Amino acid sequence: MKGIILAGGTGSRLYPLTLVTSKQLLPVFDKPMVYYPLSVLMLAGLREVLVVSTPVDLPRYRELLGDGTELGMKLSYVVQPSPDGVAQGFLLAEEFLAGGGACLVLGDTVFHGHGLTGLLRECVLDVEQQRGGVVFGYPVQDPHRYGVLEIDRRGRLLSIEEKPSTPKSNRAMVGLYFFDSDVVRVARGLKPSGRGELEVTDVARDYMQRGKLRLENLGRGYAWLDTGTPEALLQASNFVQTIEQRQGLKVACIEEIAFHSGWIGRDQLQARRQRYGGTAYSRYLGELADGGGWH
Ligand code: G1P
Repeated sequence: MKGIILAGGTGSRLYPLTLVTSKQLLPVFDKPMVYYPLSVLMLAGLREVLVVSTPVDLPRYRELLGDGTELGMKLSYVVQPSPDGVAQGFLLAEEFLAGGGACLVLGDTVFHGHGLTGLLRECVLDVEQQRGGVVFGYPVQDPHRYGVLEIDRRGRLLSIEEKPSTPKSNRAMVGLYFFDSDVVRVARGLKPSGRGELEVTDVARDYMQRGKLRLENLGRGYAWLDTGTPEALLQASNFVQTIEQRQGLKVACIEEIAFHSGWIGRDQLQARRQRYGGTAYSRYLGELADGGGWH
């Protein structure tokens, strides 16, 4: 299985912040937003990742993340010519996926929670072995802004609706999806929705109707943070800052994950410090290389 980060879109709900900058490059406290979804894929154990973005913004992602060598990964890039929906990401990734399954994460997804790594790795194994797909539900106060999952009393999925005006539950479908190799075929069969997009909700519904979709609930012990408004973006920054300051550990430090995964060694960790100057982030990498941190 390979990973896909979707970092396209106009970010219009954040104007003027995103008039000349890609939303997923904005800061969430001490690092660019895209570090967070990249961390999620890395924690899932995926070393090959495709970054999808607009023609204007893609070069900035390439500049920031490179070809992945410094993280012991392989990063590739593809342009999304126009923002035609999340599910278009699967079509643009067809060649990259080379007939395998995909874990797609939206570039503005910020997760935090104990046990996330184990959960992600289980999903990779599940989808690779049994095939099908996995989506994640999370309780939110404003479900009408999301894909909404309805379940019955036994926890079985009944329906999935994209941004319903009358949501059937408060369970939002988070921006992280695992699908088997059928996903490109399914995405190819989609018609644009009312808002003119190829909806990932429609992909998930296709899997659900074939009895091939599993729902994982991210309970209240997880944080899935919104970054879609200036207030939410500030709250996400404050959240990360609070945790980092309390623990002395970083959230979504991609070098730390690569190091702990055994993808890079101490020397590469030290070498990587150069690009971060004399910042706290850089010092953190130095401490890790010296054997500090939490194992
Ligand atoms: C997308 C998906 C939606 C999902 C949401 C999560 O919405 O279409 O189903 O709940 O991401 O952030 P969009 O960002 O395209 O409005």
